[in-house]
Amino acid sequence: MFDELEMAPPDPILGLSEAVRKDPNPNKIDLGVGNYVGEAGTTPIFSAVKKAEHGILEGETTKRYLPIDGSPAYSRAVQEMALGPGHEALASRRAATAHTPGGTGALRVGADFLRKVRPSARLWVSDPTWPNHLGVFGAAGFEISSYPYYDAKAKCLDFDRMLAALGEIPRGDVLLLHGSCHNPTGMDPTPQQWRRIAEVAAERSLPAFFDLAYQGFGQGLEEDAASVRAFATAGREMLIASSYSKNFGLYCERVGALTVIASSPEAAEKALSHVRIAIRANYSNPPAHGAAIVVKILGDCDLRKEWEEELTAVRGRIQEMRRLFVETLKTKGVARDFSFITRQNGMFSLSGLTKEQVETLRSRDSIYIVGSGRINVAGMTRANMDRLCEAIARVLQQ
Ligand code: LMR
Repeated sequence: MFDELEMAPPDPILGLSEAVRKDPNPNKIDLGVGNYVGEAGTTPIFSAVKKAEHGILEGETTKRYLPIDGSPAYSRAVQEMALGPGHEALASRRAATAHTPGGTGALRVGADFLRKVRPSARLWVSDPTWPNHLGVFGAAGFEISSYPYYDAKAKCLDFDRMLAALGEIPRGDVLLLHGSCHNPTGMDPTPQQWRRIAEVAAERSLPAFFDLAYQGFGQGLEEDAASVRAFATAGREMLIASSYSKNFGLYCERVGALTVIASSPEAAEKALSHVRIAIRANYSNPPAHGAAIVVKILGDCDLRKEWEEELTAVRGRIQEMRRLFVETLKTKGVARDFSFITRQNGMFSLSGLTKEQVETLRSRDSIYIVGSGRINVAGMTRANMDRLCEAIARVLQQ
């Protein structure tokens, strides 16, 4: 059955980690997969997470299955974080949340759910987008089209073209949006632009599906939710895939959630019943540990404060690396203007480096960047900055 198979290509992002692991160069620099790296060059565990884990370990009495959609305490915490505790959708019980394995799990469950309730809808993604959006929604059976998002020449959001294109999307199709820290460009709409996008989506009856994977990595926990909150106004239907890989540093614990916001509590309850069917057919019920950490931290004043401070420090370090990268490139004689990098949000930057330049950096300098030119800025440190910028200066001169 397998003899005739062709080798499948490596994943454009996760496949890089394998290549990094195999590279014996002690000075290799990994700017591929979106893992946050601290100044020490490792991906730390938040101290609030460690403390929460100790408490969980001591208090845990059973490993029984969780409900298909997870615990009510977790659902509440997810909704409050995305929408704010006083939000109308929470008060009126229009939001229903299912705990999922990571943000990717939430996207897939949401995709399966939407295929069932809106089988003729096409999915519209930003150009460019996270490549796995195509994988996840394609595997669920969606036909996928794209809307303009990024002006690669001017290195900014192509807002007018984006808005005009959204106005042409057939009614009822689904709009996939990045809640904050757009992956791969790092360019986000302003709160005012989000409100305008929400208006156009409402005029065209386009349900939005938000991928909210970087809340707190851009401008702050509240600021980064301006996108979803602009959409979640009275009576509007939408979906949110939340991920806590980055903002709690819980990457390998695979903790996320799918929130469906309906027009009434009854509709939300019905929607959740179909989400449960999708979950049961995929992985039955969610893994407990990561969500238990999130619930513990968000429900404990001291732990929450500690986590928020750690998250603020992470955000600050990334912003600092953006500035240092731009400055160091200048000191290495790079004439090209890279200042746009300081205007981007989150871990990623679409650097403008070509596929060939990315290849050269990899083969000559053991510097790993995604083929699209996407750089994980959170993988830069003071220690690797000089070597990184010297190598980039060299490829730019060629
Ligand atoms: C990334 O884009 O690097 C992260 O979201 C990790 C992944 O799954 O691709």
